[in-house]
Amino acid sequence: MPSKSILITGGAGFIGSHLVRLFIKSYPDYHIYNLDALTYAGNLENLRDVEKAPNYTFIKADITNQHHLEELFQKFKFENIIHLAAESHVDRSITDPLAFVKTNIVGTLNLLNSFRDLWRSDFEGHLFYHISTDEVYGSLGEEGLFTETTPYSPNSPYSASKASSDHFVRAYGETYDLPYIISNCSNNYGPFQFPEKLIPLMINNIIEEKKLPVYGDGKYTRDWLYVEDHVKAIDMIFHNAKPGETYNIGGLNEWKNLEVIRLLCQILDRKLNREAGTSEKLINFIKDRPGHDRRYAIDSAKLKLEIGWSPAHDFKEGLEITVQWYLDNQKWLKHIISGDYRKYYKSQYSE
Ligand code: NAD
Ligand code: TYD
Repeated sequence: MPSKSILITGGAGFIGSHLVRLFIKSYPDYHIYNLDALTYAGNLENLRDVEKAPNYTFIKADITNQHHLEELFQKFKFENIIHLAAESHVDRSITDPLAFVKTNIVGTLNLLNSFRDLWRSDFEGHLFYHISTDEVYGSLGEEGLFTETTPYSPNSPYSASKASSDHFVRAYGETYDLPYIISNCSNNYGPFQFPEKLIPLMINNIIEEKKLPVYGDGKYTRDWLYVEDHVKAIDMIFHNAKPGETYNIGGLNEWKNLEVIRLLCQILDRKLNREAGTSEKLINFIKDRPGHDRRYAIDSAKLKLEIGWSPAHDFKEGLEITVQWYLDNQKWLKHIISGDYRKYYKSQYSE
């Protein structure tokens, strides 16, 4: 395998930390640079087990700072980029859309410019791989799946900012011949996810016997994928896809929010030796999220056919592993929810 230097942005976040770990371990001949601003969502504790690896370097930097990025690109000459750094939570995007424009759009543009300016004389062997979301496609009705040709129709400031960044990546491919790949993935879950997202928030609240805030009627549907299946797909796409392609990633695994919450209640009642049905009593229907997308579901046939990927984790098995991980890592969880999280929780849920 040829040696490569790979810049992974957002590697201290949820998906990024799984990807950094996979690449450090799978490719000892690559050098993995993890560039992360360490926002509230970035946590170097997510990478304690690999931080001393000889093929790993952490760089604290903000992708909104073009000047700093240029210096880093000159210094390290990153050959390839897998770009995950982003503001990633829909509810926060409703409160502060501009933060999403800055990081997700301007930050992506800064990276594209730095990458283009470094390699434009010869892009051969270089790749800008942009990690995106299925939320750019908007919302589905009862039927149908998102394919790679579904028109973009984002409904939240988060998905609008991700859609915009996808368009810029594609436009740089057309305009400057910059070699890119984009993948759009469905909702991820698993260890190290920040407890503002549905599954870890519910796990934490069930453990703490707090109310379980369900938006609207709870029948909103998401297509859940275990995070390790996502990073495996990224690995396979990075190594096998042709530049200029886009891929949808998802596990054909649709669940209504209430069904997911009930499953978590059942697993935790069993693991915590509570009487069956105890935690479900915490379910609390609250005011709906504005612009709430009803249903997401991904058709990943292209990825299966062309790259040979399919998910390895069954949902119930993945939830068991995830719940057990949060129970075993209470220190990690308590650390995270001790600071700004409390303020966020109070303002989001008026508690
Ligand atoms: P996350 O919020 O857990 O992590 C984001 C990381 O980016 C953090 O480490 C944070 O410190 C870093 N970051 C934020 N702003 C930055 C900036 N200005 N400069 C440098 N670093 C910055 O997010 P995640 O859930 O791991 O998502 C990672 C990527 O995958 C995002 O691009 C997201 O849009 C995409 N995605 C996520 C999901 C999902 O279900 N979580 C699904 C599909 C796609
Ligand atoms: P989330 O994890 O925020 O992901 P996304 O909105 O990007 O899909 O939310 C998943 C689903 O769970 C979504 O339909 C909103 C819902 N939800 C709740 O009902 N209550 C909550 O407290 C949260 C965070 C989400």
